[in-house]
Amino acid sequence: MGDWYKRMFEGKLGRYWLTVSDRRKEVTEIQVSFLKEKLPKGLTLDHCCGPGRISIPLSGYMPVVGLDLSGFLLQTAKNRAKEAGVENLFLVRADMRFLPFREETFENVINVWTSFGYFPSEEENEGVIKEISRVLRSGGTFILDMFNPGWLLRNFRERDWMEEEEYLTLEQRSVEWRSKRMKSRWIIIDKCSSEISEVSFDHRIYDLQELKGLLAKKNLETVEVYGSFRKESFDEAKSGRIIIISRKT
Ligand SMILES: C[S@@+](CC[C@H](N)C(=O)[O-])C[C@H]1O[C@@H](n2cnc3c(N)ncnc32)[C@H](O)[C@@H]1O
Repeated sequence: MGDWYKRMFEGKLGRYWLTVSDRRKEVTEIQVSFLKEKLPKGLTLDHCCGPGRISIPLSGYMPVVGLDLSGFLLQTAKNRAKEAGVENLFLVRADMRFLPFREETFENVINVWTSFGYFPSEEENEGVIKEISRVLRSGGTFILDMFNPGWLLRNFRERDWMEEEEYLTLEQRSVEWRSKRMKSRWIIIDKCSSEISEVSFDHRIYDLQELKGLLAKKNLETVEVYGSFRKESFDEAKSGRIIIISRKT
């Protein structure tokens, strides 16, 4: 399960995941208008950009570098950027633990839709924030969007069935509160071919205080916190998201 993030976003599973991402059109518009308002114009790193869901529309307002590990999702981003006639977007394939950029390259970094906490060790996850801080210029802005474990605890569902046009999916979840990790298993049935795929994944969950502490250790000072991209204030019990806007000191 250790490197699930390499399997999950490539090949058959990657194609499935793209259908999940493509159902987020409405939320994407809300996210992009939030980012346009909160980010100063300047070179922006979309850290773990996936298929360019955010990078492509955002690059209409400021130059964007989209970085991701998945060759499949980056190719999708490239094709979609070409179709959209986008000029201000540069795509880079790299692992988030080792960013191929010099110190203080970016005015802004964004990490959207729980793209943090993927590694088994605390050091590796903390190292990701260290890398982000390294490539951000002093005074630059980092926006991190994670799910809120406070909400998860109160609304926990051990399993769900989801049916879409092409797929039927069973999602099973368990949370180890002691190690603060959520383990999930997806069983995906392709309705056309009846083929079954399965993937298990496991990531670290963080509450607001812990995230603020992690950021502070890497010179990222929290300046605003929201519970949604609609700018609702954060409520530990009710908010689905933890959105932190931080500034490099
Ligand atoms: C939940 S998706 C979010 C994608 C995008 N931020 C969005 O909001 O649509 C997580 C992304 O992280 C990427 N990813 C996973 N592990 C990675 C790694 N080690 N280095 C860089 N990207 C990685 C995946 O390929 C995927 O595109």
